[in-house]
Amino acid sequence: MHPMLNIAIRAARNAGNLIIRSLQHVEHLEVTTKGRNDFVSDVDRLAEQEIINTIHKSYPEHAILAEESGTQGSNDVVWVIDPLDGTKNFLHGFPHYCVSIAIMVKGKIEHGVIYDPLRDELFTASRGAGAKLNDRRLRVTKRKELEGGLLATGFPFKYPQYFAAYLETFKAVFPQVADIRRTGSAALDLAYVAAGRLDGYWEIGLEKWDLAAGVLLIEEAGGVVSDFTGGDDHFNSGNLVVGNLQIQQQILDSIAPHLTDELKK
Ligand code: IPD
Ligand code: CA
Ligand code: CA
Repeated sequence: MHPMLNIAIRAARNAGNLIIRSLQHVEHLEVTTKGRNDFVSDVDRLAEQEIINTIHKSYPEHAILAEESGTQGSNDVVWVIDPLDGTKNFLHGFPHYCVSIAIMVKGKIEHGVIYDPLRDELFTASRGAGAKLNDRRLRVTKRKELEGGLLATGFPFKYPQYFAAYLETFKAVFPQVADIRRTGSAALDLAYVAAGRLDGYWEIGLEKWDLAAGVLLIEEAGGVVSDFTGGDDHFNSGNLVVGNLQIQQQILDSIAPHLTDELKK
């Protein structure tokens, strides 16, 4: 295993343990609002600090891009961190959230870790070396048609300007599949696509820390990721469609007629 992946796993497990310990006090946590429907608690901040401390113990010179504290340093290696993906679930006691850490080298995601502390599930990937759940190799599903498929999606709760167009994409996809989940953790949705638990997924307006580790997991599990036009600008646009080759294309084809100009990226 690459030494940086090893540190990412250590950092994710440390943060996961901190999140689980704080479950006892979840109703007393001070919660502040960062933006529309966007909340943060001390647990997010403490977990993030724990991750950064773990990284900097081994790699003091590496740069950080983290959800709660922003950017730190400048280096070819950037650690992209979501300390708690699924904050709203966590705050409501809805047991589905994770830690997501990706390592970018010269602008390319090389390693990714997504850790679900409640199920003790550790999803890992390194470029060219495959994706794993704990010790098991991951593959995306083999489904060829949307029919019978199980997808996940995210609702654009921060972006009222996209509600109408998003619902049109939902209306276009929903009748074609067996069902659609909205789990509240984009990173776990991506890990589940990599693990073959979901056939595909789409969401508008993700942040870099929501998707960085997950897209590498999917690619290393044989899947395909793109922005809403089928291009590779999802890291910047935050608009993401994933699945195996066939399912990803069918989601893209289904949503294309409903995208406003602003969403064609
Ligand atoms: C959110 C979750 C959610 C997704 C949002 C993200 P957070 O991350 O991943 O599923 O729909 O776009 O912002 O705020 O819980 O880290
Ligand atoms: Ca997130
Ligand atoms: Ca978060």
